[in-house]
Amino acid sequence: MSQATKNDGPSHEKDGIVEDSIRYVWRHGVSAAATRAAQGPIAVSGSGVHVTDSDGNVYLDGLSGGSAAATIGHGRKDVADAVHAQMTTLHWVSLRTFLNEPSVELGRRIAGLTDADLQTSFFVSSGSEAVESATQLAKSYHRARGNPDKNRFLYRKTGYHGTSLIGASASDNAEFRTWFAPLAPGFIELEACNPYRRPEGMTEEEYGLAAADAIEATILAEGPETIAGILAESIPAALVLVPPAGYLRRLREICDRYDILWIDDEVFIGFGRTGRWFGFEHYDVRPDIVTASKGITGGYVPLGAAIATSRVMDTVFGDGSSTQAKVSGHTYAAHPTACAAGLAVLDAIESEDLLASTARIGEWMVNEFRRIYADHPHVGDVRGKGFLIGVELVQDRATREAFPKSLGIGRKVMERAMSDLFMLRATGDVVTLFPALVTTQEDAQQMVAATCRAIDGVLGEL
Ligand SMILES: Cc1ncc(COP(=O)(O)O)c(C=O)c1O
Repeated sequence: MSQATKNDGPSHEKDGIVEDSIRYVWRHGVSAAATRAAQGPIAVSGSGVHVTDSDGNVYLDGLSGGSAAATIGHGRKDVADAVHAQMTTLHWVSLRTFLNEPSVELGRRIAGLTDADLQTSFFVSSGSEAVESATQLAKSYHRARGNPDKNRFLYRKTGYHGTSLIGASASDNAEFRTWFAPLAPGFIELEACNPYRRPEGMTEEEYGLAAADAIEATILAEGPETIAGILAESIPAALVLVPPAGYLRRLREICDRYDILWIDDEVFIGFGRTGRWFGFEHYDVRPDIVTASKGITGGYVPLGAAIATSRVMDTVFGDGSSTQAKVSGHTYAAHPTACAAGLAVLDAIESEDLLASTARIGEWMVNEFRRIYADHPHVGDVRGKGFLIGVELVQDRATREAFPKSLGIGRKVMERAMSDLFMLRATGDVVTLFPALVTTQEDAQQMVAATCRAIDGVLGEL
């Protein structure tokens, strides 16, 4: 199936599902009003880059299922078979009591994906847990080095690191900051590195170095002896902030200078989204801990991981007599079935050469948007890496002035696309696409066309 198709049949209400959903299922990530007003759509099946709803409408999925997890597409029998085989052999046992083979095999495969010495995986069940575990691991590292006061963390504006108390405390989300108050102490906000919004007259490279130097200034002001780590995505996904080449290298130098661990949150982009296994690989830098989820199992079953270098692990564990190696433990730690799914997903990415096609087709999409919108007065910037693509809409291309928030331009583009059966997202007025790694050139052409229909439709009504 290669085309989104619309069925003008019955409404989404089917067997009382919408009504019962309002009563029985608390939806995540949407407002109370949206929950109460829920009209569907109700997804009933998925195949490749398409999702079908209960009315028979077929959506073209530019979002890997909506939140970037369905990286190798929907409805894959190879993953289902691997999960079935594992479940009917050994579905789960506690890691406290037994080792299990799928987790060891997955850990070994992950360690071999890059030359970054990311050796040991602490497997959990979500991105938020991975982030929280990474902060605990960083504290263990500093305690083991005799620096228990190094226990605070830096995070950046516009960043998102999850909804656990630690994830929320490290996220620039105004609603979390009020709803979940008081947040965890010890989190310090930094400016984001947003090259499109750099000061007039600066090159991207100069801006990147200045942005990293500003982090050093904050570290010095706060006291480096109190800082355990910095939580920073190599390529922040929400606004698609692809950093200039020197930024992360300078950040790495600063972390080394003050013995601060870089926790590279790759929950959104890890496991292939940018055309490499991890985003940091584009920049010739190595993090100390990587957090992952979503793409690690392609969304088939929940799994997350905090993956640490041998330097961090050797420090934490020492010769094995360390009493500092404290990280939380979860019932579903290193869940065998989830790890079996992870292995099947790695097999698929490798055997189908999906990193290469992601890099190639993603670059084509970025270039195509740039060509189409080369002179558009309201398209300020097009940027991306692999299948993480952003088109920033602005009031005035020349001055980069944003649209007034009250116009809700991004939201309208998103709604228009959805009514055209195409799934895209907008964060503010940055229209974002994060299609599955299995997206073909033909799918990509349809996605670009559908995105332009939505953008042009909304901008045309201004
Ligand atoms: C960068 C990043 N970190 C952490 C998280 C939290 O992951 P989860 O929703 O699985 O808890 C997300 C989720 O979108 C994310 O994008």
